[in-house]
Amino acid sequence: MTNSTTTTNSAANSAAKPVRKAVIPAAGLGTRFLPFTKAVPKEMLPVVDRPVIQYVIEEAVDAGIEDIIIITSRYKKSIEDHFDRLLELEDQLEAKGKSDEAKGLRQLADLAQLHFVRQGEALGLGHAIGTARNHVGDEPFVVLLGDDIMHRKAGVLKGMIDAYNQHQSSVVALMEVPQNDISAYGCAAANPMADRLVEVTSLVEKPAPEDAPSNLAVMGRYLFTPTIFEEIAKTNPGVGGEIQITDAMVSLLDREKLLGFTFSEGRFDTGKKIDYLRAVVEMALERDDLGHEFRQILSDIAKRENLC
Ligand code: G1P
Repeated sequence: MTNSTTTTNSAANSAAKPVRKAVIPAAGLGTRFLPFTKAVPKEMLPVVDRPVIQYVIEEAVDAGIEDIIIITSRYKKSIEDHFDRLLELEDQLEAKGKSDEAKGLRQLADLAQLHFVRQGEALGLGHAIGTARNHVGDEPFVVLLGDDIMHRKAGVLKGMIDAYNQHQSSVVALMEVPQNDISAYGCAAANPMADRLVEVTSLVEKPAPEDAPSNLAVMGRYLFTPTIFEEIAKTNPGVGGEIQITDAMVSLLDREKLLGFTFSEGRFDTGKKIDYLRAVVEMALERDDLGHEFRQILSDIAKRENLC
């Protein structure tokens, strides 16, 4: 039933509940990274020594999320294996006196409660999120795109959860991009509210630059009240013939307030080769065990290439 009484109840029920659950869509084909992605999911691309999706899960856990639903598809089994226990290896490491490494593997498997749901058909991001409906139930939840790394310093997910706790509204991460790039993103028109918060007034998926209402692009983090599931269920295929989450959010705007959490740096779209390379360099530079030596190597390369 989707009458207004249900809406009010659903919003009121979820308002009292903390944000505990996350949905990570990771079912996409990763064609921009072929041939690598022929046999390995794009979410398993290594950034130093961890796959991209591990950074995403660690970000969620860091923000207080306890329960994570990963939406996968065929050929994504290695994601499940990565977060599973591997007792034989743990035993071998212990036997060789490598207790720290064995402990690291156990901690990885204990990061959060992980659940895997298959999206049988690639019907779009909105559809993928919709497959988590039964598991999420009547609770607010966050969505983290499985190939977008957000740097801890940007504080995006935590900021979004704080905004939800204060306003009990859905929140979407927004970043200004050059006008010419807006056609790669969902685009939001919004009014300033407070500090880094805006109130979204309209949204459009991948507009032509000349039709875009602003240069505020939707980035890979969302926080939704469960009302979004009702809107996804009613959403018809849009751009690219896919069920778009942006279109479901447009319908959500008719029923509930939608906030935007703005940020300006710290996002790496690892599905794009150039951004993937940037992520590897930035993350390696921050590592205690590698940063110093790697900085020297980069400096030598920069001199050799006359970059400085
Ligand atoms: C998806 C969303 C889009 C959003 C983007 C962020 O597009 O549909 O609204 O701006 O993620 O990365 P995709 O990159 O899957 O084409």
